[in-house]
Amino acid sequence: ERLPALLRLMPKAELHIHIEGSLEPELMFKLAERNGVQLGYPSVAALRAAYAFTDLQSFLDIYYAGASVLLTEADFSEMAWAYFERAAADKVVHAEIFFDPQTHIERGVPIETVIKGLGQAARRAQAELGLSAKLILCFLRHLSEADALRTLEAALPWRHHFIGVGLDSSECGHPPEKFARVFARSREAGLHLVAHAGEEGPPAYIEAALDVLQVERIDHGVRCTESPALLLRLAASRTPLTVCPLSNVKLRVFDTLARHNLPALLAAGLCVTVNSDDPAYFGGYLNQNLVETFAALPQLGAAEAYALARNSFEASFVPAAQKAAWV
Ligand code: ADE
Ligand code: ZN
Repeated sequence: ERLPALLRLMPKAELHIHIEGSLEPELMFKLAERNGVQLGYPSVAALRAAYAFTDLQSFLDIYYAGASVLLTEADFSEMAWAYFERAAADKVVHAEIFFDPQTHIERGVPIETVIKGLGQAARRAQAELGLSAKLILCFLRHLSEADALRTLEAALPWRHHFIGVGLDSSECGHPPEKFARVFARSREAGLHLVAHAGEEGPPAYIEAALDVLQVERIDHGVRCTESPALLLRLAASRTPLTVCPLSNVKLRVFDTLARHNLPALLAAGLCVTVNSDDPAYFGGYLNQNLVETFAALPQLGAAEAYALARNSFEASFVPAAQKAAWV
C-alpha cells in the first residue's frame, strides 16, 4: 500500500503530545518499583484494562494517578527519551512537548527536577536522533489562576528551557477567561501561547482562547465546525488546530474515526495538524494516528497527507529560517 508508506515515511512535526501521556505501563511499573510508589493495579495487564474511558475526566483521573511514579530527574528524562525514540521512528523531526508541572509540584517534586530531566532528554534527542525538541509548560485549568501564576513565577528562572505555555486538563466549566492574567504575564515574558479549546468545550471557548488569551494555536479545536463564522475566521487567519484523532475517539468526542471531522477541517482551508495527545493511553503514536485515520476516511489521500505534513511545520514555533528548510 502506497498511502500508509507515504504517511509513515514523510518527515513531520508533532505539536500536541503530553509527555506524561507517553508513559507506557511497562515503564510506569518499573518506576513505581524503583521509587517505592504503590500503583493500585496488580499488573501491566490490569492497568491497561482500566484504560476504558467514557470522557475526558475519566481519562484524566487515571492519567494523573499514572504520573505519581515520576519523582527524579532520571525518571523524567527516561520517560521523554522513550518518546523521542518512538517519535524518531515515526519520522518526527521536530516535537513541541507539553508538560504539567503542577501535577508534580503538588507531590513535592521541585519544578527544576521536571524541567532539567525533560531538558536533558531533549538535548540528547537533538544530538543522537537529529530531532529538535522544545518544551511547552501547561497550566492545569481545574486549578486556580493563582496556582497557575505561582507556577509561572517558579518556572521563570528556567525560562530558557521552555518556549511557551499552554492550558490543559478538565475543559468544561473552566473557560479560558479564568486564565487571562497568567497568559498576559506569559506573553510579557516572551513565551509562545497555546490552549486546549473546543475538545469537549463549546466554540465560545475557542473564541475566548483567541480573543482573551491571544493564543497562536488551538489544541484540538474540533468543535469549531459548530460555528460557521468561527470556521471562516480560523481559515482566514490560518490559526493552527492540533487535532488528535485517536484521542477524540477514545474520549468519545467522535463515535468512530470514520465520523471524525478532519476532512471537513482540511476542506475548509484550516491549518490542521495530526498529533498523538497521550499515545500510551490512546492506542498509538503519530504514525498510527495518521494511518488509522486515513484508512477510515477514504476522502483523505496523498494530497491531504502532504498538506498535514506541511501544516505541521507551518504551525510549529521554529524560527522562520529553519521552517523554510522544511516546507
Ligand atoms: N491532558 C492530557 N491530555 C489532555 C487532553 N486531551 N485534554 C485536556 N487535558 C489533557
Ligand atoms: Zn492534549
